[in-house]
Amino acid sequence: MNDLIRPKRIVLGITASIAAYKAADLASKLVKSGVDVYPVLTAEAARFVGPATFTALTGHPCPIDTFDEPFPGEIAHIWLARNCDLIAIVPASMNCIARLAHGLADDMLTATVMATAAPILLAPAMNTGMWNNPATQANLETLSKYGYQFIEPVTGMLACRTEGVGKMADVVTIEAAIQSVLRGSQPLSGKHVLITTGPTREPIDPVRYLTNRSSGKMGYALAETARRLGAAVTLISGPTALPAPIGVQTIPVETAREMMNAVQAHVQTANIIIAAAAVADYRPETISPQKIKKNGSAPTIALVENEDILAWIGKSKRPDQTLVGFAAESENLLANANKKLQGKNLDWIVANDITAAGAGFDADTNIATLISRDGAQTPLPKMSKREMAERILVAVSPIPPAL
Ligand code: CTP
Repeated sequence: MNDLIRPKRIVLGITASIAAYKAADLASKLVKSGVDVYPVLTAEAARFVGPATFTALTGHPCPIDTFDEPFPGEIAHIWLARNCDLIAIVPASMNCIARLAHGLADDMLTATVMATAAPILLAPAMNTGMWNNPATQANLETLSKYGYQFIEPVTGMLACRTEGVGKMADVVTIEAAIQSVLRGSQPLSGKHVLITTGPTREPIDPVRYLTNRSSGKMGYALAETARRLGAAVTLISGPTALPAPIGVQTIPVETAREMMNAVQAHVQTANIIIAAAAVADYRPETISPQKIKKNGSAPTIALVENEDILAWIGKSKRPDQTLVGFAAESENLLANANKKLQGKNLDWIVANDITAAGAGFDADTNIATLISRDGAQTPLPKMSKREMAERILVAVSPIPPAL
């Protein structure tokens, strides 16, 4: 896989402190957010928490000794050192800080740290006296000169039942610091991606509405992928059964008009705009305030056309904004998609044949052709919507193609 877009990979080092149990919560949070976590314990830390906990949470072996070799055909500390995007040591004990400051490499964790070129983040945790000890302060200064980054400990109740500085920063703060280092090195960091998704619901009366079969899955996959690649993401979503993706600004809307208002409120800052929503083309001209009752003859519902949100963006967009539309077609796929590309002033269109097996509404997979403004066509054969999201984002953004 393109090394720039694979999930971020970190080595999570855990050293001896009572705060070691909090590293399990951190590992779980990081994994849930899509980070690939490789745990490494020190022998002393393993007296506080066991490797089985971290293996279960991360799905990876948790080596301790330098000669533990859990990756067949690889020298573990070198492989970890070369293939991670960050080493975070949580908690970092006084002893660990001293060993790193003096260049010791006598277990798996320190050997990995010594061999890496990745950024290193330490979350110290220790007794106040140990923290204030001039040896610790000198070691911290040395490490800081070497480029190590720190998440400062806070003042609070310590394991030794005294109050003072040395308590490890809370897990939420540490996770945010880790995510921020990872984002800084990500291909879409600094970019704002705006995505519309899902169906819209156009009410007829208090119980009935017009809608369509969109599940929103493609738009959610795009939002999760864009966030994983470092972008700030705004997801404007019609009603779906999907949970709001972690770390994405999700704005729920019901009608096409609500979707348009939300788009207009967020489009200015967007660098990439992707319209994956299946917006209802028409809405009832009037909404009956009361439930429409049966009275022997079928009612006639007059419809009016909804404004085309994508066409509105196409008319008002700046040249520095990239606009991507979708075309859901049941016939003349490429001709119809090209017409929408030109007619709505798009930079790219994802043409979907909704009649193909494994494509279109509610499926977990999709089949499409990506067409650029200059007419170049890239077929995207049957693949998961997540994979397709990655292919689309790589094509429409300045991410270099696979290395
Ligand atoms: N779209 C939109 N607002 C609308 C209608 C469509 O933003 N009121 C966007 C969709 O999100 C999609 C693209 O326009 O990115 C094409 O949508 P589609 O339903 O395929 O086409 P329409 O333009 O509605 O044309 P038709 O229904 O005739 O195929």
